Amino acid sequence: MNTSRRAVLAAGAAGLAATTTLTTGAPAQAAPRHYPSKRHFGTLADGTAVDVWTVTGGGTRLQILSYGGVVHRLEVPDRNGHLANIALGFDNLADYVAKSPYFGGLIGRYGNRIAAGRFTLDGHTYQLPLNDGANSLHGGTQGFDKRMWQVEPFTRGGDAGLVLTRVSPDGEMGYPGTLKVRVTYTVTARGDWRIDYAATTDRPTVVNLTSHTYFNLAGEGSGSIESHTLELAAARYTPVDAGLIPTGELARVAGTPFDFRRAKPIGRDLRRGGEQLVYAKGYDHNWVLDKGISTTPGHALTLTDPPSGRVMRMYTTEPGLQFYSGNFLDSTLVGTAGHAYRQGDALALETQHFPDSPNHPAFPSTVLRPGTTYRTSTVHSFSTR
Ligand code: BGC
Repeated sequence: MNTSRRAVLAAGAAGLAATTTLTTGAPAQAAPRHYPSKRHFGTLADGTAVDVWTVTGGGTRLQILSYGGVVHRLEVPDRNGHLANIALGFDNLADYVAKSPYFGGLIGRYGNRIAAGRFTLDGHTYQLPLNDGANSLHGGTQGFDKRMWQVEPFTRGGDAGLVLTRVSPDGEMGYPGTLKVRVTYTVTARGDWRIDYAATTDRPTVVNLTSHTYFNLAGEGSGSIESHTLELAAARYTPVDAGLIPTGELARVAGTPFDFRRAKPIGRDLRRGGEQLVYAKGYDHNWVLDKGISTTPGHALTLTDPPSGRVMRMYTTEPGLQFYSGNFLDSTLVGTAGHAYRQGDALALETQHFPDSPNHPAFPSTVLRPGTTYRTSTVHSFSTR
């Protein structure tokens, strides 16, 4: 049964007009059937209430937390129409706060690593918190994935979504400039999930926003993703040093385990001697997308789970893609449905500019200046085969 049908029944049982339970923050009469709904998810230690929002469209059901903009659940149908939650997560807020390795998080100000947490811009050197050995990862100790977001629901034609906004103060986590951030999560009428990121600043700064959903197309907690097949439209990747910082080289994937230009099972070359095993315990690298930077989202990859038939295609305006094969999941975290997550039980596919770009002038720039707007978009398109 879909959400709105359940809500109608619940409202009927309570003797209320059906539409009143379907809406949040908008006139009940005006609300289309697929208007996003919210409920209480948990309370932070400082008393802040956290909501979980549900957005539906096509066969897709997306749940987002006002804490961290976290993708809490993402349900899509298999070839027989059966829904599974394909995103790793927790069933409670406390675990997200205390333990999450960025499950579903909205990552900012800078996705992935900045070497030594340091960069120089216009002659000023900025120091960020070091939270990954000697480096700064995913925006520092209190990145955007650990902050509260303002959430406004909307519908537009057959699409439904949420606009998340937040003002990151000048100097937050060491980054210069007051950054006004606006992230739009849309579930389209056909069930695609789109993310549009926008940001402005009042001082020169660097920005690299992404989403850190851990995918398992067979369903979270169902086992390894090694038999998923991945096609990744990238002839090059950025090799890394021991701290997973790019060396600066754009190496060819041809003849290496990094070659996903033709779809292959993720596990096929995972254990084949190669750079992926030297420092990262698996794939944890940035691929240089053949499409380059674009103004509209271009094809990046196709991920398929052959047994269920679920297919996810990703399109992005970004030039890079961090493919992380869940190497550091070690069975200590118990997920949404009560199953422990082991190494390789999910993969993250983070559209982005390249890691450590502020220290690599030859990489596409992540600098944002006052008067210009940072804009990137990524589409996750679901189908079955
Ligand atoms: C990084 C990994 C890290 C993971 C989250 C990925 O984006 O590249 O090294 O372990 O995020 O914990």
